[in-house]
Amino acid sequence: MPIVHLNGQNLPAGDACVPVLDRGFIFGDGVYEVIPVFGGHPFRLSEHLRRLENSLGEVRIPNPHARAEWAALIQRLVDENGGGDQSVYLQVTRGPAARDHALPENPTPTVFAMSNPLHPAAAEILAQGIKAISLDDIRWTRCHIKAISLLPNILLRQTALDAGAAEAILIRDGYATEGAASNLFAVFDEKPGGILVTPPKGPHLLPGITRDVILELAGAHGIAHRESDIRREDLARASEIWVTSSTKEVLPVTTLDDKPVGNGKPGPLFLRIHELYQAYKTGLHDSGDN
Ligand SMILES: Cc1ncc(COP(=O)(O)O)c(C=O)c1O
Repeated sequence: MPIVHLNGQNLPAGDACVPVLDRGFIFGDGVYEVIPVFGGHPFRLSEHLRRLENSLGEVRIPNPHARAEWAALIQRLVDENGGGDQSVYLQVTRGPAARDHALPENPTPTVFAMSNPLHPAAAEILAQGIKAISLDDIRWTRCHIKAISLLPNILLRQTALDAGAAEAILIRDGYATEGAASNLFAVFDEKPGGILVTPPKGPHLLPGITRDVILELAGAHGIAHRESDIRREDLARASEIWVTSSTKEVLPVTTLDDKPVGNGKPGPLFLRIHELYQAYKTGLHDSGDN
């Protein structure tokens, strides 16, 4: 049984319990992070902890730990679960309190973390790409906060799965924002070699850590790119579409709304960025730098 962390203690998952009046259980009142771990080392840890601090601040939950404490807690959990490649899930709720919408005065946040094995995307997914469908974004307007209340995302993802697709591309006011659990990139053939476009950060999308890595790699390797809005109708003329996240890394969307994206195969920029991403991870791992 995996080892989890609950409020300062590491214990088998089956032994970890939270009170029924925890506001995470009652209201979905909490925030979370998902941190990939490669070769036993958390990837982009400072960036994930900064986003956690931001999410906590936005919803007015006191941060229960300093950064060094978070780092130690995560590393211990990773080590106790055997190292290697893992995906650490970290959740902070406002903690137990009598049920009332008003914020409790001196909350004791609940800190929970678990870690699961992280497997690379299957070769056939990388070779063939995934199907996605576009759906109206039914979420709230503060999507930059990584809140645990994910009911809209769950329903959107399930609608995609019911349609035989792996991801939903979300549309708000005529613009594509991101996936149900991923950020969005598209390649437009406006210039030779194409230009990589991703919607700018703002309240309608999560500032993805993987998104930042992709933009950095594009910048470092001379791949033309820009952050700008993508209209729904522009998606239909994209030669490539990708979704990115910490656990999926970069995946090519080769079918959107039952129509092929580009020639229906993972495109040349995807192949390049995927290779760069893998090389970057391996480089960090080898230098012990992540
Ligand atoms: C809604 C949403 N957008 C984007 C992402 C990608 O973020 P990251 O690259 O930090 O995993 C996620 C990750 O789960 C997500 O849930």
